[in-house]
Amino acid sequence: MKRLLRTKSVDHLIAESQDDSHGFKRVLTRTSLISLGIGAVIGTGIFVLTGHAAADFAGPAVALSYVLSGLGCLFAGLCYAEYSAALPISGSAYTYTYATLGEFMAWIIGWDLILEYLFAASTVAVGWSKHFTPFLKDFFGVVLPEQWCRAPLDYVEGHITTTANFVNIPAILLVWVITALLIVGMKESARFNNVMVGIKVTIILLIIGLGWGYIDWNNLTPFIPENTGKAGEYGWSGILKGAGVIFFAYIGFDAVSTAAQETKNPQKDMFWGMIGSLLICGVLFVGVSVVLCGMVNYKELHVDAPVVYALEKVAGNELKWLRMAVEVAVLAGLSSVILVMLMGQPRVFFSMARDGLLPPMFARVHPKYGTPHITTMITGFVCSMLAGFLPLNLLGELVSIGTLLAFTVVCLGIIVLRRTKPDMPRPYRTPWVPWVPLAGAIICVGQTILLPADTWLRLIIWMAIGVVVYFGYGRHHSRLRHHD
Ligand code: ALA
Repeated sequence: MKRLLRTKSVDHLIAESQDDSHGFKRVLTRTSLISLGIGAVIGTGIFVLTGHAAADFAGPAVALSYVLSGLGCLFAGLCYAEYSAALPISGSAYTYTYATLGEFMAWIIGWDLILEYLFAASTVAVGWSKHFTPFLKDFFGVVLPEQWCRAPLDYVEGHITTTANFVNIPAILLVWVITALLIVGMKESARFNNVMVGIKVTIILLIIGLGWGYIDWNNLTPFIPENTGKAGEYGWSGILKGAGVIFFAYIGFDAVSTAAQETKNPQKDMFWGMIGSLLICGVLFVGVSVVLCGMVNYKELHVDAPVVYALEKVAGNELKWLRMAVEVAVLAGLSSVILVMLMGQPRVFFSMARDGLLPPMFARVHPKYGTPHITTMITGFVCSMLAGFLPLNLLGELVSIGTLLAFTVVCLGIIVLRRTKPDMPRPYRTPWVPWVPLAGAIICVGQTILLPADTWLRLIIWMAIGVVVYFGYGRHHSRLRHHD
């Protein structure tokens, strides 16, 4: 029992973060970190889930769901900022937990982060492929055979079924290209990300700016539709349920912290990377949701591409170019989400391997490129196979619940660390501890409550597999154990 609760020494972690001999290159600036955060965050959530959450749960008040969920992320982000400035290590929440709640919980969080990074990347890759095929058709008249663009398995009403399709080739190829980019270098990856972020942010600003003129204010009244009598169907509980659904839109800003060892000045810039990107995205999200629900009645928004649908309905051919631009923004947006997720995952694996909880091979850094190439390759390969063959619609909410769990543990860990290590040097301090972390934890847990029971079940099964892996491997190979 004592072994499971053993923590990694903070002094050791600080020394590790300052030791540049492991081969990472410090190339990232404050601006590139903010851009990575925006790159990870703006994707499926804002372009697709906003419509679903408005139509089914919150109505126009989906904007409030964004505010609520954003507040939870902000509070968690302020906790991440304290940790990542004090312990700028690529393991992110995994390493922070190792320093506060001990090895077993750290493993659990590391395992849980696979849901947030690897599974999210696969899910988003499938979404990308779904947009890519119509894009090729509409823009270039190229029709790809459907059977080679969809997974052979599907998930319908609680059952996995086979389909007539073979494999999702576009999703696999995209993941491989991004993986290759990530291996070649952090600088190159950050540059690609900057371009994608530039495209999507510009187009989102255009949607808000031009869409504003088409708002019919009747669509926004009442702003909070009356609850139907069922928890989660409109009213305040609908806002909460909507927050749980659109939380997916915010996922990813924390991945910035996995790049701490490649950042020029992590003590100062981690805060800006996470909080800056979060605030920018939060404002854009609220803007898009108000415009979207203002343009058409929220009940009509349960469609695959709500933004395109609304623009077509209110402006017809007048804004055809903007509709096409939205498709480009979606493709650019989703590819940068995948990039940042596939950047985060190998770095968490890298830290776990350095601690002995995964095989040492995972902790290698390429001598020339300065990237964790082995883990990047393995992560990319697994991600592509999941995207190519599995029905990932069953994973979306699992990604959210897994991330909410990680955020909760990070928030609670800050309170623990203030007690156990009051004198640790903290270049940034989370304000109003314990209130901010407590509020963060409460909002995060609150958003999980109305998620479906089978999502909880899947989380428990995933964690149980993690526990088996830990007792089968990590516990015996842990470096801390060998220091006894
Ligand atoms: N936040 C990312 C998205 O919405 C995961 O696609």
